[in-house]
Amino acid sequence: MKLFIDSGNLKEIESLVPLGIIDGITTNPSLLAKEPGDYKQILKKICQIVQGPTSAEVVATDAEGMIREGRELAAIDDHIVVKVPFTREGVKACKALSSEGTRVNVTLIFSPAQALLAAKVGATYVSPFVGRLDDIATSGMNLISEIVEIFENYQFTTEILVASTRGPMHIIEAARMGADICTCPAKVIDALFNHPLTDIGLANFLKDWETAQSVRA
Ligand code: G3P
Repeated sequence: MKLFIDSGNLKEIESLVPLGIIDGITTNPSLLAKEPGDYKQILKKICQIVQGPTSAEVVATDAEGMIREGRELAAIDDHIVVKVPFTREGVKACKALSSEGTRVNVTLIFSPAQALLAAKVGATYVSPFVGRLDDIATSGMNLISEIVEIFENYQFTTEILVASTRGPMHIIEAARMGADICTCPAKVIDALFNHPLTDIGLANFLKDWETAQSVRA
């Protein structure tokens, strides 16, 4: 399963990419609005750092505007994936942009029906939001399981990009279900590393080694 960072923050991205576990980046207008500077330059820099798919979202709400913005975003760098919201206009824009060879990530997916329609119009990725469903007492991971099941029945090339992840269990469950990608805030990726028994085990190995060395000295 591929791991993306859900962030527009260059420091976070620069600190995680050298670990070798990051396959791409997702941004959205809320994330980029937090970053100072020109968003196009930030997106270019992100692409240069990660050298992998980098989602950049349109803010137009009509198909024509989304297509125009999508083309502008795609011109920033070959790694850019144009993100469009799942609306009727977004579906039209996805069809048009995909037909001209631009990769599209259809975002704000909250039902299996929406994922199916996005796949039908050639989305490269669908982004179901698990955390926001959990927030309203509905299982986000059930949605992933349903989309995996539906996509397995057909020849869609659309990848399932699990978004709005809030903790390590979302990632583990997504991997068990066979989702293609999880995009995670930096703090969730950090949390994947942590286990108290690893820390205790390492401290004990080093202490035992030092003790043995001092006895021999
Ligand atoms: O980028 C979309 C998504 O991951 C947003 O997550 O935490 O704002 O629901 P969140």
